[in-house]
Amino acid sequence: MLLRKFYLLLTAGLLTGFAYSQKKQDGSAMYKNAALPVETRVKDLLKRMTVEEKAGQLNQLTGGAFTGPALNDAGQQAKMQMVRDGKVGSMLNVIGATETKAIQTIAIEDSRLGIPLLFGYDVIHGYKTIFPIPLAEACSWNLNNIEKNTGVAAREAASAGIHWTFAPMCDVGNDIRWGRVMEGAGEDPWYAGLVSAARVKGFQGNLDEQHVLACVKHFAAYGAVEAGREYNYTDVSRVALWNKYLPPYEAAVKAGAASVMNGFNTFEGVPVSGSHYLVTDVLKKKWGFTGFLVSDWASFGEMITWGYAADAADAAAKALQAGSMMDMEARVMIAHLPELLKQGKVTVHQLDEAVGRILEAKFKLGLFDNPYKYCDVNREKATLFTAANRQQALQAAQEAVVLLKNNNKVLPISNKSARIAVVGHYADSKEDLFDFWIAQGEFKSAVTLLEGVRKVWGAEQVSFAAGYRADATTDDKLIAEAIANAAKSDVVLVNIGLSGKMAGEDRSLANPVVPEAQVQLLKALKATGKPVIAVVSAGRPLVLTAVEELADAIVYGWILGTESGNALANILSGVANPTGKTVMSFPYAVGQIPVYYNHFNTGRPVQTDGQGNWYSRYRDIPREPLYPFGFGLSYTSFQYSNLQLSSALTDKGKVVTATVTVSNTGDREGEEVVQWYIRDYAAAVIRPVKELKGFEKVSLKPGESKQISWKVDDKVLSFYDASGNLVLESGKFTVYAGGNSRDVLEASLEVR
Ligand code: BGC
Repeated sequence: MLLRKFYLLLTAGLLTGFAYSQKKQDGSAMYKNAALPVETRVKDLLKRMTVEEKAGQLNQLTGGAFTGPALNDAGQQAKMQMVRDGKVGSMLNVIGATETKAIQTIAIEDSRLGIPLLFGYDVIHGYKTIFPIPLAEACSWNLNNIEKNTGVAAREAASAGIHWTFAPMCDVGNDIRWGRVMEGAGEDPWYAGLVSAARVKGFQGNLDEQHVLACVKHFAAYGAVEAGREYNYTDVSRVALWNKYLPPYEAAVKAGAASVMNGFNTFEGVPVSGSHYLVTDVLKKKWGFTGFLVSDWASFGEMITWGYAADAADAAAKALQAGSMMDMEARVMIAHLPELLKQGKVTVHQLDEAVGRILEAKFKLGLFDNPYKYCDVNREKATLFTAANRQQALQAAQEAVVLLKNNNKVLPISNKSARIAVVGHYADSKEDLFDFWIAQGEFKSAVTLLEGVRKVWGAEQVSFAAGYRADATTDDKLIAEAIANAAKSDVVLVNIGLSGKMAGEDRSLANPVVPEAQVQLLKALKATGKPVIAVVSAGRPLVLTAVEELADAIVYGWILGTESGNALANILSGVANPTGKTVMSFPYAVGQIPVYYNHFNTGRPVQTDGQGNWYSRYRDIPREPLYPFGFGLSYTSFQYSNLQLSSALTDKGKVVTATVTVSNTGDREGEEVVQWYIRDYAAAVIRPVKELKGFEKVSLKPGESKQISWKVDDKVLSFYDASGNLVLESGKFTVYAGGNSRDVLEASLEVR
């Protein structure tokens, strides 16, 4: 938290007395005239700018050393002088209406052209009111609410002077060693695209002062980092790029995202900040993206360390030549563009295109006409952490929970006089509730599991024992306390998993498992004979094989945000019926990683009877994950029947209607995520064994059945070739319907 102290306000105050000698531009300049079209204003301003000022627009500095090494931190006073000199176009990590206003005032009043700064910040899952991590939120399969949640985050951030968030992360990831899977929407490219688009719409709305610009990151294929290690190399084929990695970025761009961030990774041996293919050919030309790009933290400069650029000047040239634009914290653009232009290594056209797009975003936000529209202290006070925002966060957290196991219907605990033993250090630790990306969220106002459970059952019925320590170790005494509490209770709720601090950037793990001490604790609790309910907290799926054997029920609680404990208590008590379905497969063992539902058949697929030799499998563990993609239980049960296609033979250009009956066979109302998958059996490039192509979240009363229908059209059946063209080939397909990617009904379809 200490790192988040910002010194700029103080510095800005100190510097206001400094003499300012540069001549201000004429107030009647065309770019200052709000009545003129944005294009005209941008052109006029570009004509007035020096090369240094243009380079300044491509320079983004941090207000604090928050999200990366502050290698170039020349001190805040020097930064403010750069703002005065027109050498800064944007800042990140400057927080709050007061502080952003102070710095914006310097840019407007003291710089020659008065170009407003753009303030960016990582608003990943809430600003002050913290929502579930994006991975968990995606498990809700509720796109409307995802958009609403993001809208709340946008309103809060925008009230605090922020114009621009570095979200959504659109990286498809299937390696749970990578700490950043928490920021994405899981392993399915199509679904991640829908979630990303919903988040873009929620953030941006109609681009008024209640919203912020979105930033699609980390372009592209950063989710493929080798061995799940942060900042690592990536190597994907063009077929994989188009079919597996690009769809979410494309969906977010098509939803109107104003900006895109380059990744830290590589494509075809080139750091992606310098990839002309990705930035210019794909993003700008093929997708027609007209917004602006920003590097990831120092990623332009890191092209040198990768061994792609010889020095900072070469890095700046290569980034601009590729079509990349704003330089976050590497300062290679500001340092070298003027000389590169003189040497003819970059062109005015390249520079003006980049600068023009950034200026255009500032004009569109209305910052030239009212630079302080986001800096209203009263609005900030009235907007942050309101009861309504918390209510929305509670709803989001409930929808994010995934019930993985519920033997003998041990859940919900509907008995209000039950005595409950809450066990587990995390259950009582606000410190461990959150990950790295919590913007201005406060630990102290977040609700723990213990608090939530006490609220529902009453403090006198609830005991607590830590069971293990913060560092995930335990001893006989801690375990004995937990057993003693369990013995005098009716049910044990044990909170295991990882601290929130282990999720996010630079949180790669070689062993994403439930720590051994917690397994030991679970064994001891199981031996008491009491029902044991494991509530697992983590920013990623963990290997739960040991837990599956020991717990009667498993509630996957991810990192749920401010309302965490209330949401979990509502689920545990049955006030809320779980509806979440996991968007990442849960591996059976670490050695299986990456394991994902949309894998390829291989030439030697697993034999279902487990007999025989020479097929693709492990000798020591199953080939399949512990819990498949799309899996999640409810307190009621659903049955699928009667999958039908309107025609088993179709032609390109025609639409086939698939229908399936879904019945609530349990005794309470519930919501089910009905999932539609396809398989293409023979194509110019091999296709996965299943691909999610449709879903619907339906509510069913006990005993009720509904017929769900879904349209199978050309788009559903197509795939991308290596050049990014959608291709539909005739041949045999299967259509699947089910409540997860494993347990499905199927029907054959042939396309002529
Ligand atoms: C992360 C980005 C983030 C940026 C700014 C980087 O280290 O990779 O996702 O938006 O920092 O904080």
